[in-house]
Amino acid sequence: MKEQIQQLLEQTVSRLKDQAIIPSDAAPRVQVDRTKDKSHGDLATNLAMMLAKPAKKNPRELAGLIIDNLPASELVAKTEIAGPGFINFFLDSRWLAKQIEAMADDSRANVAPAAQPQTIITDYSAPNVAKEMAVHHIRSTVIGDAVTRTLEFMGHKVIRANHIGDWGTQFGMLIAYLEKMENESAADMDLSDLEAFYREAKKCYDEDEAFAERARNYVVKLQGGDEYCNRMWRKLVDITMAQNQAIYDRLGVSLNNDHIAGESLYNDLLPEVVSDLTQQGLAVEDAGATVVFLDEFKGKDGNAMGVIIRKRDGGFLYTTTDIAAAKYRVDNYAADRILYFIDSRQAQHLQQAWLIARKAGYLTDATTTEHCAFGMMLGKDGKPFKTRSGGTVKLSELLEEAHSRAVKLIGEKNPDLQGEALEKIAHTVAMAAVKYSDLNKNRTTDYVFDWDNMLTFEGNTAPYMLYAFSRIQSIFRKAGVTAEQLNGEIVLSHDKEEALANKLVQFNDAVNGVANKGMPHLMCTYLFELAGAFMSFYEACPINKDDVSAQDKASRLRLCAATANTLKVGLSLLGIDTLERM
Ligand code: ARG
Repeated sequence: MKEQIQQLLEQTVSRLKDQAIIPSDAAPRVQVDRTKDKSHGDLATNLAMMLAKPAKKNPRELAGLIIDNLPASELVAKTEIAGPGFINFFLDSRWLAKQIEAMADDSRANVAPAAQPQTIITDYSAPNVAKEMAVHHIRSTVIGDAVTRTLEFMGHKVIRANHIGDWGTQFGMLIAYLEKMENESAADMDLSDLEAFYREAKKCYDEDEAFAERARNYVVKLQGGDEYCNRMWRKLVDITMAQNQAIYDRLGVSLNNDHIAGESLYNDLLPEVVSDLTQQGLAVEDAGATVVFLDEFKGKDGNAMGVIIRKRDGGFLYTTTDIAAAKYRVDNYAADRILYFIDSRQAQHLQQAWLIARKAGYLTDATTTEHCAFGMMLGKDGKPFKTRSGGTVKLSELLEEAHSRAVKLIGEKNPDLQGEALEKIAHTVAMAAVKYSDLNKNRTTDYVFDWDNMLTFEGNTAPYMLYAFSRIQSIFRKAGVTAEQLNGEIVLSHDKEEALANKLVQFNDAVNGVANKGMPHLMCTYLFELAGAFMSFYEACPINKDDVSAQDKASRLRLCAATANTLKVGLSLLGIDTLERM
């Protein structure tokens, strides 16, 4: 709705240019905001105030000219000039009602796909091989997935890149240890505890010189394409990713093993990239290593910071791989946008990798690179989220605990529910709670992970959102109709009905906000407000009561249907399933 008004104003600006009312080189950023107070209409713009100076006119006079030149549109019922030169827009209530009617049974909830579909790469999740998924990986996985779903919904071509840590010198040690395990205890080999596996491998490496020698030899062989080492390496990747896939499946994350594009994929490009950067004069030899000095970053001594892209021993670095990955992504997909869902502590790493890739011409203005950074997940004590003994919290264990807590919560609320029916509902609630409590906060800040806050029916939580949806389903069951059977017109006569309708049409803005900014909390905030608007509407406007006219009942049920559908579509974009009953 904001966008539609914006478009009308943009057309008006060109009309004013044609009439030389404003100079032809004026390029105002057309800003439309929702008003705080209904008496000022629904939306307002300060366009006249912004253009007053270049037009050499008084803002109120210019506002009048803007209104005179506004293309006719069925969505605007009335405009007015306010204060120093604001233009207020009052939306047409019949238009509003028609929008809501269209939202009720549309799988897109009446959101138009993007006019210009783009190719977008989303780099998210990215766990490391032979390591347990850690807390920052769940943030990346859940936030990246919600944005990926939203971009796809908007009609963009999205390529999921799971930039897993599947390459590096640690693989010599891991292969040597896998081999040792296979030789010693082939029968009862248990790799379910990857943390322990990694720890033991490291221990052998540190304590046993012969083992370390073998490990170093395997690194060289692996890099040289040796068949045995590659087979062992593949095994490690497969074992890890099978475990991660079980987590993805449980979470209902739309990533699967087909989407792996890990560090090893770019490995063959690394020597080329380094020699190219050297030839271009961007990289220089420095104490045996190959380094790119960046004036844009200052080192401790105040001089240009050196970014190593090849170590003295010939090894490449995390940064080198990200430079190569950027090149690969542009060369193979001509991506318009690349979104990186990575911990905010890697900001400098990304800035440097992209800057080098831009200087080298691998990245051009045709591609934007965006760091969708997120803060840390903290425990209740405000310190990084850890187990009681200080270890990393295994994601699988976290999901297990969410599940048993959800069983308890739902079981207490519905003593009749048992067995598989309870398990199923608890599963949906648990996964929703884990995701929603991560998604509903502005991702850029750290947040405190708190079981009690995420599994309560009060506030901006998953249980509350799911409950709001299931409550509407029960209204339909009581009314004895389904949403599909409704056809009466929506009439917005009560101010709570109008408030709900106004909230409903903002869904489009929420979807676009997530797609453009990579910020899923915008959707959570919106859905929470929508559920709130619904609750107030339902309190004020009864449906299944005898004294409600048939016409009011039909109209209100259709508002219910639009709300339920919007909640469902919105939650699905966050990767959250709804429940008919709970
Ligand atoms: N594997 C890395 C980690 O665990 C994250 C990789 C993120 N993606 C990237 N293109 N660097 O921290």
